[in-house]
Amino acid sequence: HLVVHITGARPNFPKAAPVIDALARQAAAAGQDVRQVLVHTGQHYDERLSDVFFRQLGLPEPDVNLGVGSGSHAEQTAAVLVGLEKLFLEGEWGRPDLVVVYGDVNSTVAAALVAAKLQIPLAHVEAGLRSFDPSMPEEVNRLVTDRLADVLLCTSADAVAHLGNEGVAPERIHLVGNPMIDTLLAHLGSFDVELARKRHDLDGRYAVATLHRPANVDSAQDVQALVTTLHSVADQVEVVLPLHPRGREALLSAGLLDHDRIRLVEPLGYVEFLGLVRGADVVVTDSGGVQEETTVLGVPCLTLRPNTERPVTITHGTNRLVTRDELAARVAEVLATPSEETDGGWPVPPLWDGQAGPRIAKVLLEVLR
Ligand code: UD1
Ligand code: UDP
Repeated sequence: HLVVHITGARPNFPKAAPVIDALARQAAAAGQDVRQVLVHTGQHYDERLSDVFFRQLGLPEPDVNLGVGSGSHAEQTAAVLVGLEKLFLEGEWGRPDLVVVYGDVNSTVAAALVAAKLQIPLAHVEAGLRSFDPSMPEEVNRLVTDRLADVLLCTSADAVAHLGNEGVAPERIHLVGNPMIDTLLAHLGSFDVELARKRHDLDGRYAVATLHRPANVDSAQDVQALVTTLHSVADQVEVVLPLHPRGREALLSAGLLDHDRIRLVEPLGYVEFLGLVRGADVVVTDSGGVQEETTVLGVPCLTLRPNTERPVTITHGTNRLVTRDELAARVAEVLATPSEETDGGWPVPPLWDGQAGPRIAKVLLEVLR
């Protein structure tokens, strides 16, 4: 059996790693002949958004890199469509028996379309998440991918409910937990707060901020307001900002660095980033994955968005949605809360236990039988 995994952007890598690993183990244990092929679309190509994850997460080298690179939504999606169609029809491994896609990026939806048109069974890891915000490109990607998927693997009960409401047959839906948390728990021992403090020259309290959503960093007006807001956070605490390339230039032009407590750094490797997050007093983010990781690490997270497709991080975690206008006051509240009150003690979401990869592999092997 040929299983092809599609990855392309930073958040895909920590989701795919435990699935590939568990599938290899379970297939070997069951004596099932499963060949796994790892495709990198090349949506992300910078060393710091891509290669570092392969090294740190023990992912196999991609068997193929389509090299699609950056572009408009249409250009990027189209390049993945063309590249994957050719690969699935003419690739040296033959026609896939199963295509596995992850998350909600452009590479995910493009792969789903190709698999569906070629009638290749499609599994979606992280199915059913909904922000109900059609202005988010990822929401479009989620809706289309789930509509086309044959096997829908969910991280949380709300996702299962959304798919049910959309009419997906229950036998296609599997609540398996969160593979991104498998990766987090597997590497917990290497998230070194002291090393992070040394690296970033931090001796007191600090915040970590990551911001890359179009709604926050694409328009000049939003960027200007964001810089003012970040300065009001930096008035209270050191802010380390490992900035994604999207919006970086705009934030710099808007005067981001005109504050001596703003520390701009390049995007960090997975282990370095989570070492820094683990020791932070507060995280400010618009990332999907970071909302989940802070929930499990017990670090207070303020999400600069009007909605989240991951509400379980609010009900079972440390996450809160905030507006730009509220952010400084919410940071002040978090900093005024004794850390033992925010450090552990809540129930993390069910099945975020480090065993999602094995559960997913079990479902996939049943599909292949
Ligand atoms: C993509 C995903 C988003 C995800 C984010 C994770 C889509 C629609 N968006 O957004 O859901 O949260 O990845 O990081 O798929 N760039 C580089 N180097 C790279 C890649 C990109 O400098 O290796 C720059 C380019 O200027 C590019 C811009 O970043 O135009 C945006 O890249 P793109 O892949 O289109 O979307 P992201 O904003 O990264
Ligand atoms: N991440 C990282 N280095 C950074 C910022 C984020 O390793 O400088 C990791 C983060 O821990 C998580 C993943 O990247 O595992 C999330 O990706 P991102 O925020 O780019 O995408 P999203 O989750 O918003 O789609």
